[in-house]
Amino acid sequence: MEVVPLATATDVARLAADTIEALVRRRAAAGTPAVLGLATGSTPLATYAELLARRGAGTAPSYEGVRTFNLDEYVGLPPGHEQSYLATIRRELTDGLAIPPERVHGPDPTPDTLPLAGERYEQEIRDAGGIDLQVLGIGTDGHIGFNEPGSSLASLTRIKTLTARTRRDNARFFGAEDDPGGVPHHVLTQGIATILRAGHLLLLATGEAKAAAVAAAVEGAVTASCPASALQFHPHASVILDEGAASRLTRLDYYREVWAEKPDWQGL
Ligand code: PGA
Repeated sequence: MEVVPLATATDVARLAADTIEALVRRRAAAGTPAVLGLATGSTPLATYAELLARRGAGTAPSYEGVRTFNLDEYVGLPPGHEQSYLATIRRELTDGLAIPPERVHGPDPTPDTLPLAGERYEQEIRDAGGIDLQVLGIGTDGHIGFNEPGSSLASLTRIKTLTARTRRDNARFFGAEDDPGGVPHHVLTQGIATILRAGHLLLLATGEAKAAAVAAAVEGAVTASCPASALQFHPHASVILDEGAASRLTRLDYYREVWAEKPDWQGL
C-alpha cells in the first residue's frame, strides 16, 4: 500500500485526476479504452470537478470508449431520483466527459430483479474486462463502497443494510443534516472481493473526521470490522490523504519521505 500524505484537499484532487488521466491515456494508446470504477459521496467530487475543468481547458485526454462502473447504489428510491448514484455520477462527471450513458454502469436496483442484481453486475464487470482503476472513499466507520463493518472480506456485489451512522452521514444529501429519515436502508454494493479485483485502488480521504478510519485501515489489523483494511491485501493500492485525514497515522514521517523521494518516472 502506498500512502501519500498531501497538504490540502485540492492537492488530493489534482493527484487523483493526474492518475486517472494517465490511465486513460495509457489505455487509449494501447487501443483498449480504460474501465474506471467510480465512487460517489462528497470526497471524489473535487477530483471530478478537476477532471471536468481540464476538459474545459482542452488539456484532458479523450474519453472515447471509456466505460465506468459505480461502486454502489441505493435500493428503494423512485426511478430517476436525483440522489441515485447513477444519476449522481452522470451529473457530476460522465455527462461532462461525454461518456455516453450506455457506457456508464451501476448496480441495478429495480425491485423485481433485485435477487439477481449482484451476479448480473459482476458479469457486466467481467464482460468489460474488469476494472482498471477503482476510486474509493472511506466511511467514518471504515466502510468501502457500502460494505459496512462485518462485511465478508470475500464478498461480491450484493444487497446490504446501511448502519445508522452511515444513514446519518448521508442525510445531508437528502436535504436533512441530522435526520436520516429520507436515506434508504438498503443498497447494492460491489463486495470487498469485487473491489480487490480492480487493477489499481485509489482511496481518497480528506478531513479530520476520516482520520481514525484511515489509521485503522492503513495501520490497523486486517479485519472485517474495518472493511477498508482489506486494501492491505491489494498489490497496488494508493491512499491519498490531506493533512486532516492523515493526522492519526503513526508512520506519517515515513510516508512523507517515501513520497518526497519517489522517482519521477514511477507515478502512482
Ligand atoms: P464521503 O463518503 O466521501 O461522502 O465522506 C465516503 C464513503 O462513505 O465511502
